Parts: sequence; structure tokens; C-alpha cells
Amino acid sequence: MTHSMTETPALMIDAHGLRKSFGSTVALDGIDLEVPCGSILGVLGPNGAGKTTAVRILTTLTIPDAGSAHVAGHDVVREAAAVQRNIGVTAQDATLDEILTGRENLTMIGRLSGLPRTQANDRTSTLLAQFDLTDAADRLLKEYSGGMRRRLDLAAGLVTRPPVLFLDEPTTGLDPTSRARMWEVIRELVADGVTLLLTTQYLDEADELADRIVVIDHGRVIANGTAAELKAQTPGARLEVTLSEPRADAPAALAPFVAGPVHVSHDGRRLRAPVRGTSGLATTVVRALDQAAITVDDVELHQPSLDDVFFALTGHPTGEQVAGGERGTGSPTGDERAVGVAGQRGSSSSIGADGAGGPAGQRRAGLAEGGGSDDRPAGDEGAGDQGAGGQARPTGRDTQQQAPDLEVARL
Ligand SMILES: Nc1ncnc2c1ncn2[C@@H]1O[C@H](COP(=O)(O)OP(=O)(O)O)[C@@H](O)[C@H]1O
Ligand SMILES: [Mg+2]
Repeated sequence: MTHSMTETPALMIDAHGLRKSFGSTVALDGIDLEVPCGSILGVLGPNGAGKTTAVRILTTLTIPDAGSAHVAGHDVVREAAAVQRNIGVTAQDATLDEILTGRENLTMIGRLSGLPRTQANDRTSTLLAQFDLTDAADRLLKEYSGGMRRRLDLAAGLVTRPPVLFLDEPTTGLDPTSRARMWEVIRELVADGVTLLLTTQYLDEADELADRIVVIDHGRVIANGTAAELKAQTPGARLEVTLSEPRADAPAALAPFVAGPVHVSHDGRRLRAPVRGTSGLATTVVRALDQAAITVDDVELHQPSLDDVFFALTGHPTGEQVAGGERGTGSPTGDERAVGVAGQRGSSSSIGADGAGGPAGQRRAGLAEGGGSDDRPAGDEGAGDQGAGGQARPTGRDTQQQAPDLEVARL
């Protein structure tokens, strides 16, 4: 489609002080979001954090109570039509038709948005191939699996080749294989130069896909930065040095570079200490020890995971602790403030889903949204999402602990 702007703005999404309340519920409490052209912003937060509300404002579906936002250079309130011409949304309230085939749905969207028939057909075929849906193209949408449906939702948002895309929890409720496929697709999109705002409850998803991450909780930005920056500011990083032979002066030599006491192993060869910020530290340490004529066999830096980051920011207990605690798995109180931390680092984990235990890679973050079936039509999600948020939030507020006074990254 044509863009009504003449130049691409440096910031494709630029929002300041967005506020939105629904009755007495403060969904957004003044958030800023800035997304440079061609980059991915991950908006990470638990259920009810305000992610969908932010997306709805930026996509002109909801008017903010206060604040302003520009998307592709256009004001989302005063120039809504121009914004709409520049965006694609994987809407949770997607307008796809269950009794049409995948191909018919995409072609219809193309025609409705003004593409001539042959172009609409061509674009449809391209997208079906890109999203691995060629084989399913002529099946009715209602026969699609959850993963196929999400990919078609995404394809539907791309028919008009919009420069800015909004994906609201594109993989919530998907099985691991479908998630992985979706990630591939998203990476391909960004390689094409699209600007993308992606909301997610999954720490590993933000870590994998996003250039920058904004962590939101209770409608506020509680941290932002790259995944590496967020991790660097989180307690949990530690340094481990293995010496060739024990040296009594080694702890003193390390002291200037560490953020706490140096622990020495019984054999005197292994030294361990907490560190703050890990960039370039290994080199510095090796050099300093070398200058003190201390020979090093090994230096290891252990980075905290994004799980640790969220925990440090919110002080919420982990999902494991919650699941193993007084409340049973999937308890009806559904304390969504709990952080659903993965058992294994680096595997799929989600913030504040439902306190369900088990390997995070297999669990479904969609439980708290009602349903949670992989095959649940995507269109059900919006309502369930908000409903669950509304119900569970009071519990969350009660159990909310003070966030530690942690310095957050600056944009
Ligand atoms: N249309 C609405 N009416 C009433 N409350 C809403 C509505 N939309 C969202 N909320 C509430 O605002 C808060 C933020 O919701 P939402 O933006 O959907 O969060 P998220 O997408 O991060 O789960 C929640 O408490 C939710 O219940
Ligand atoms: Mg949502």
C-alpha cells in the first residue's frame, strides 16, 4: 500500500505518557515506548500488565486517556486512518472467516484493501508459502490447528506489506514446535526490514527475538534495555576462576573486579565471586591476574537469565516456588503475579501465567486466559485475556511485593 508520509521517521513507534483506565482499573499508568525503524521491541509482562491495551492504542482501536503516540509518523488519535494504512496487526479479535479457506481469507483481505485480483492472488500465494501453509491453503479455517491459525493470522496482517507490525502474544498457548516455527517466521519478517512490536509473556521469546525489551507490570515500564543490559544489571552474575595452583594472594587480586566476597574452594584453586556487569570482565581479570604472576586455567562468567531479571525487578516468587507452595498447580486464585520460571535455564518460560508447574517448555501459558487449548480459535483470546486479567489482578496486587530498588536501563 502507499504510505501517506514522504519520509520514514527514525522512530516508527513513538509513544509518551500513555494512560488508560477502565473504570477503576488502571490498565496503563503512563508508559513510553520508542521503536526505531527496522527493529523489534519486545514488550514483556505478565497477564494483565497492560500489553494489549498498549497495542490497541497504538493500532488506533482504543483512545488513550492521556499521552500521545505516533506510528509511522502519524498521530494515532488525530490521524488514525493514516496509521491504519501503515500497520499490520495480528489481532486477537481477527476478522478471519472460519468458513472460508486460508487462501480465500487472505485473498479477501487483499481485495478489501484494494489490491487488483491478480495481485491479491499472487500476494496470497507468496504468504501461504512463506508461512508454510501451502498444503493447508484450501482447507477451511475452522480445520486449522492452533499453530496454523496463528500463522494465518500473521499472514493476514501482512497482505498489504505494512512497514509496522504489531504481534500481540503471537505464541501464547502454542505448543513448542509451533512456537519455534513462529519464531522463524518472525525473524524472516524483520530481515525484510519490518518494524515490529511484539508482546509476550515469555522471557525466552523476548530474549530470542527482541532488539530491545520493555518490561511492564501494572501498566508501568519497570525496566528497559537489551536483554544483555537487563541481565547485566541483575544480581546473579558471578565470576569463577580456576588457578593452575593455589595462591593466597589471588582473592586480593580479584577484589577490585567483583561485587562481593571472594569464595575460595578447599583445594585453593577455584575462586568464586558475585559480579555486577560482565562485559569485558573476563579479559580484565585474566590480565590483572597475569600481572600478579598468577596463572589461570579457566575463567567463567555466569550470566543471569531473563528469569532472574524479572524476579529481581518485581520480587515475585518463581512459578516453581508457587507451584510447590501452599497453592496447588493451577489454583483458582491464579496469582498471575507469580513468575513462571523455567526449570532449566534457557528453556521456554513465561511470566505470571498460572503457577502451573512442570517443564516450562511444555506448559501452556494460556491457562490463565481460559481455555488454553492449542487449537483454540485465536479470536477467543482477546476476551479471555482481559477476563483473566480482571479476575486475577486483585490477588496479584495483594501479593505484590516491593520491587527492589534496581537501576534500570535507559533507552
Ligand atoms: N475493555 C476493558 N474493560 C475493562 N478492563 C479492561 C479492558 N481491557 C483491559 N482491561 C484491564 O486492564 C488491565 C490490562 O489489561 P491488558 O492490556 O489486556 O493486559 P495484558 O495484555 O498485558 O494481559 C487488566 O487489568 C485488564 O483486566
Ligand atoms: Mg493481552
